[in-house]
Amino acid sequence: MRRLRTCQIILLLLIGSVSVQAQNRLIIEADRGETTINRHIYGHFSEHLGRCIYGGYWVGEDSSIPNTRGIRNDVVEALKDIRIPNLRWPGGCFADEYHWMDGIGPRAERPKMINTHWGGVVEDNSFGTHEFLDLCAQMDTEPYISANVGSGTVEEMSKWIEYVTFDGESPMANLRRQNGREEPWKVKFWGIGNESWGCGGNMTPDYYSDLYRHYATFARNYGDNHLYRIACGANGGDYNWTETVMKNAGRHMQGLSLHYYTVPKDWGDKGSATIFDEAEYFTTIEKTLFMDELITKHGEIMDRYDPRKRVGMIIDEWGTWYNVEPGTNPGFLYQQNTLRDAIVAGINLNIFNAHSDRVQMANLAQTVNVLQAVMLTDEEKMLMTPTYWVFYLYKVHQDATLLPISFTSNKYRQGDKEIDAVSVSASKDASGKIHITLVNADPNQEQQINTQLIGATVKNIKGQILTSEQINDYNTFEQPSKVTVNDFKGAKLSNSNLSVVLPSKSVVMLELQ
Ligand code: AHR
Repeated sequence: MRRLRTCQIILLLLIGSVSVQAQNRLIIEADRGETTINRHIYGHFSEHLGRCIYGGYWVGEDSSIPNTRGIRNDVVEALKDIRIPNLRWPGGCFADEYHWMDGIGPRAERPKMINTHWGGVVEDNSFGTHEFLDLCAQMDTEPYISANVGSGTVEEMSKWIEYVTFDGESPMANLRRQNGREEPWKVKFWGIGNESWGCGGNMTPDYYSDLYRHYATFARNYGDNHLYRIACGANGGDYNWTETVMKNAGRHMQGLSLHYYTVPKDWGDKGSATIFDEAEYFTTIEKTLFMDELITKHGEIMDRYDPRKRVGMIIDEWGTWYNVEPGTNPGFLYQQNTLRDAIVAGINLNIFNAHSDRVQMANLAQTVNVLQAVMLTDEEKMLMTPTYWVFYLYKVHQDATLLPISFTSNKYRQGDKEIDAVSVSASKDASGKIHITLVNADPNQEQQINTQLIGATVKNIKGQILTSEQINDYNTFEQPSKVTVNDFKGAKLSNSNLSVVLPSKSVVMLELQ
C-alpha cells in the first residue's frame, strides 16, 4: 500500500515536470499525517523594552484608555482574535536583571530600577507577576516566565515558582495571599536563563550546562503543576552550544531554545523597515529561509541525544530586526512593519509547521511596539500590522494534524541567486477541514500552483488573502487597513485537482471541506 502511494506521488511529480504551464507542483496526502502542530508554535514574546509593556499593554487603572485592571482592552481583544496560545515574559535580556520581588505588593511601594539593556530608562515595576498573569488570564493564554539566571540566584527562582504555583502553607504562598491572590496560578513554562551565551552572562556552554542543572533541580513541581523547563539554547548557527548543552544537561530539560533574527544587512546597519530595494528584499527572504537549515541541523544534534524527540525545540525569539524608526529612542527597538514582514512571518510559520515533530513552541519578538510587532500603539490609537494578519490566517493550524506534502516550487531570482518562490503548509483540524497556507515571496510574478489532493473528497473551498500594491506598504494610524485580509477567489477545484493562482507578494489561506 505504502509503495503504491509512493509510486503514485512519483508519477504525479513526473507529470507535473513535463507540463510547461505549471512548474509549481503540490501533492497533499490528506488521509495521512502523524504529527500535531503544537499551538504553541503560534506564541509571542513581550519584554520590558521600549513601549511593549508600558503603553503597549499597561496603561494603569486611571488611564482614559479603556482598560481592565490597568491592561488595555483593545490589545487584549486583538490578541484573543488570533488565539494567542502563550506569552513569554519578562525578557529577553531584561529577564536576567529582573528581580521578581520588586514587582509584587502595593504598586506605590515597589522599588524602581534602571533598565540597563533598553535605553537606561526607569522601570517602576508597576507591571509585575500579578499583572502579567492577569494579562494572560484576560487573553486566555498560557504564561511562559523567563527566570533570572544571569544576576539572580537559585533561591530567588525557586521562591518565584513557589509564590506562583504552590497551593499549601508556605512563606511564598502566604505572601501571595497577602498580596491578594488566594489560589495559585498554573504556570507550566519556565525558561532558565536567556541568551546565557550573551546578555544573560556571557557563559560557555559547559558552564551554563552545570548552572542549568543546578537551577533545574530547584525548579519544583507543586501539586499538578508540572513544569516544562526550557534551557537556554543556541544563538543562530552555534551548533557547539546545542551539542554541549544536550550532552551535559539534555536529560534534565523539557525544552531547549533557539534564537534567530532576520537582519537584512548587518548588526551595524540593519536596514530600514520601510525603505528597501528589491535586492535587499531578496536578501531578507533568503536570510529568513535559513531558519529551515537551522532547525534541521540543531534538530540532527538533538536527535543524537534524544532520538525520541522528548525535548522540544523552542524558538522563543524570532522575527525581523531593522534600524529603529528615525527619531525614536535607539534603545526602544520600535520599527514599522510592511508586507515584507508578513511574507517573512508566513514563511517561518510554514517552516515551523514542517518541523513540528521537534519544534514545540515559537515566540515572535515582540508583540506590541517592538521589533516585528503584531500591533502598534500611539496613546489611545492601536493598529494591526501586516504580520498580525498572518497570525490571523494561520491560527487554523493550531493543534491540527500536519499533512504530508510533496512540493516543487518555481524559483524567484535576483542576479545569480535563486530561492523558492512559494512556501506551503497543510493541516487537517479536528472537524476534518483541511487548511493550506501559501506564501508567494516573488514580488513581481504570480504563481500558478497545481495541487493534487490524495485521500480527500472536497466539496467547498474558500480562502483569504493578504497582499498590497507595494512590498513596502504598511499600516499607519491614519490608514490602519491599507494592508489587510480580503476574500480570495483564485482557487478552483476539479475532482481532486486544486488549481491556485497566487498573486505576487501574497499570503493565502485556503479552507477545504
Ligand atoms: O528581543 C530583543 C532582544 O533580543 C532580547 O532581549 C534578547 O534576548 C535578544 O538578544
